[in-house]
Amino acid sequence: MLRELTAPSGLAAEVEEGLIKLPRSLPCKLFYDGAGSALFERITTLPEYYLTRLEHQILRERSSEIAETVDENVTLVELGAGTAAKTCTLLSAVAVRQKDVRYVPVDISKASLDEARARVSRQCPTVCVQPAAIDFMEGLEFLREIPGRKLIAYLGSSIGNFDPEARVGFLREIREEAAPGDCLLLGTDLAKDPDVLLPAYNDSRGVTAEFNKNILRHVNLEFSADFDLARFHHVAIWNAEELKIEMYLESTCAQTVNVRALHLVLPLAQGERIHTENSFKFTQPTLSAMFIAAGFLLDRTWTDQKRWYAVHLARV
Ligand code: TRP
Repeated sequence: MLRELTAPSGLAAEVEEGLIKLPRSLPCKLFYDGAGSALFERITTLPEYYLTRLEHQILRERSSEIAETVDENVTLVELGAGTAAKTCTLLSAVAVRQKDVRYVPVDISKASLDEARARVSRQCPTVCVQPAAIDFMEGLEFLREIPGRKLIAYLGSSIGNFDPEARVGFLREIREEAAPGDCLLLGTDLAKDPDVLLPAYNDSRGVTAEFNKNILRHVNLEFSADFDLARFHHVAIWNAEELKIEMYLESTCAQTVNVRALHLVLPLAQGERIHTENSFKFTQPTLSAMFIAAGFLLDRTWTDQKRWYAVHLARV
C-alpha cells in the first residue's frame, strides 16, 4: 500500500538519521503508540517500578500541603496526563479549598484523555474537566490561552527523559508561557543504588523488555521495516558518571534489517546496540542547577522516607 510507504516526513528523517548514524538510535516518541501506552501502564504497576507508586504516595500524603502552598484559585494543567490515575488525590485536595476547580489534562493520546475524563467525573464529580489532545512536545503556546492562575504538573519523572540542556530548554519554555504567580509541580526520580534502579528498568516479568521492543514493531508498521523482535535483547545500563539509565536494543546475531519506506538496508553486528531512551536521575545539585537555569524559584520539595523520589513545587 502506498500509505505505508509514505510515512510523515519529519519523523521519517529522524528515524533515518538515528538508524544510520553510529551509535544507532531511535526517537523515543515512537514508544507511545496504542500498544506502547498500554505496556507503559503495565510498567507503572510493576513491583520493581517504584517511581509511580512513590509519586502517588507523596501526592496522596502531601496533596493538602500542595494545595495550601499554591493557595489561589488555580486551574490544574497536567502535561502528559495519560489516564490521570494519580491526579484525583490532588484535585480533591484543591477542591476542598476552592469552589470551581478546572482540570486540563494534556496528552497526545485521545483514548487516554477519554479515560482521564471518565475517571475524574467519577472520583471528583465537582471538577470541570477540559481535555486537550495536543502534542505538547511540539510547542507550549496553548498554555497562554488557558485563563487564570495555573498549576502546571509534569509528573512521572518524564523530565528525566530529556538530556540536561533540553530539559532546561523545556522548563524555560513552560516558564515563558506561564504568568507570574503560576506554579510548576514536577516529579523527579532521585539517584540511588543501582541495585534498586536497574530492576526498575529490567523487570523480572519482562514487561519493560516488551515495551522497549515494541518500538521496533512500531517502526515495522510505520516504515515497512522487517525488524525481527526475537533477534533483539533489551539492555538497561546505569551510567554513574552522567546519572542516567540508558536503554538499548541489542542485536543477538549478525543480521540485515530492511526499512523499505526509507530505502534503508541496515547491517547489524552481533552485540550492536540501538539506543532508545535515557532516564536521568537527580541529586540536590542537579535539581537546583536545573530550576535556576530554567528561571524557576523552587519553593518546596516533598520526598518519600527513603528519599527515592521527589515532588517539587516551583514558582514562576
Ligand atoms: N519516564 C519513564 C522513566 O524514565 C519512561 C520509561 C520507563 C522507559 N521504563 C522505560 C523508557 C523503559 C524506555 C524503556 O522511568
